Amino acid sequence: MDNEVDVFYQELPKVELHAHLNGSVSSQTIEKLISRKPHLNIEHGMTAIGKGQRRTLDECFQVFKVIHQLVDTEEDILMVAIDVIKEFAADGVKYLELRSTPREEKTTGLTKRSYIETVIKAIQQCRSEGVDIDVRFLVAIDRRNGPEVAMETVKLAEEFMLSSDGLVLGLDLSGDPTVGHGRDLLPALQRAKNCGLKLSLHLSEVPSQLEESELLLNLPPDRIGHGTFLHPEVGGSQSVVDKVVENKIPLELCLTSNVKGQTVPCYSKHHFKYWYQMGHPSVICTDDKGVFSTDLSQEYQLAASTFGLSREDVWKISQQAIDCIFAPDNVKQQLKQKWIDLQPQVFK
Ligand code: IMP
Ligand code: ZN
Repeated sequence: MDNEVDVFYQELPKVELHAHLNGSVSSQTIEKLISRKPHLNIEHGMTAIGKGQRRTLDECFQVFKVIHQLVDTEEDILMVAIDVIKEFAADGVKYLELRSTPREEKTTGLTKRSYIETVIKAIQQCRSEGVDIDVRFLVAIDRRNGPEVAMETVKLAEEFMLSSDGLVLGLDLSGDPTVGHGRDLLPALQRAKNCGLKLSLHLSEVPSQLEESELLLNLPPDRIGHGTFLHPEVGGSQSVVDKVVENKIPLELCLTSNVKGQTVPCYSKHHFKYWYQMGHPSVICTDDKGVFSTDLSQEYQLAASTFGLSREDVWKISQQAIDCIFAPDNVKQQLKQKWIDLQPQVFK
């Protein structure tokens, strides 16, 4: 983590809805992975973007490739997922939707199915240890891999949605936004929606994707990742904004990720301002807390200091995120009660 975070933001109960597993690996866990695989000659600077540093989006995607080299067995995935879950819990996150792209690795025997099973095992293990966090899983489609792999991923996700006792709730569409076109993935996404998987789609993360966003918004998705270039002030369009607003589709907003990945010029120009001022459901998230050297408390504090939010405003943002989760109503009710119980302690 780059900066000291005020205790208020750490004690604030939080909901994290946009966290890629392999992007969330902390430097401590990277250390353990490097010592397991010294022959790869991977150094710390290759897996994270530190304070004041920026990278092009393309360079960010190179970082994921390095981390994937370090995480290529069931054992690695189990350790990484458990560490990530415990770190979010230690940061005051009470409900977490983790997302990850199932990978197969011929050399280690890892399959896409065992990948998902291992993440589920990590969630169950944390639960049985009494870690104070409710964790769910979204299976991710990497758009780079094209329509057939996307369809295969949807079928796997569907199977696990039915067999994981509510742990697998939905699907994420992510990956390098400059590769491929969402049009080709529509049949897979439509099938996912029809079978009851919730959809969180990275939309308009880079400019000039309005046509794709318009198309995918017709599904419609249940949440939007980033949505950086949807609004007219940055080349988007009012009709797209209207569609998002009419369908009340929450946005998952990741300030540091967008600043360090240079899709947003600086914190004060982040589109959080546009959507928050409109009163549209906007959830503060980390995206990749490991790669971007941040955590959720820090992201809340940055939003507050950048946009002049009071502690009451910040509380409301974290509380309203509960309505945007993919878990069912009884979970929302439990979380709302938890927030009520914790409020006196946070504002003491
Ligand atoms: P994994 O799915 O757990 O392996 O997490 C890393 C993957 O998440 C990357 O390879 C990308 O496919 C995806 N990802 C992480 N951050 C971003 C982002 O900002 N935009 C799009 N995709 C992302
Ligand atoms: Zn993302």
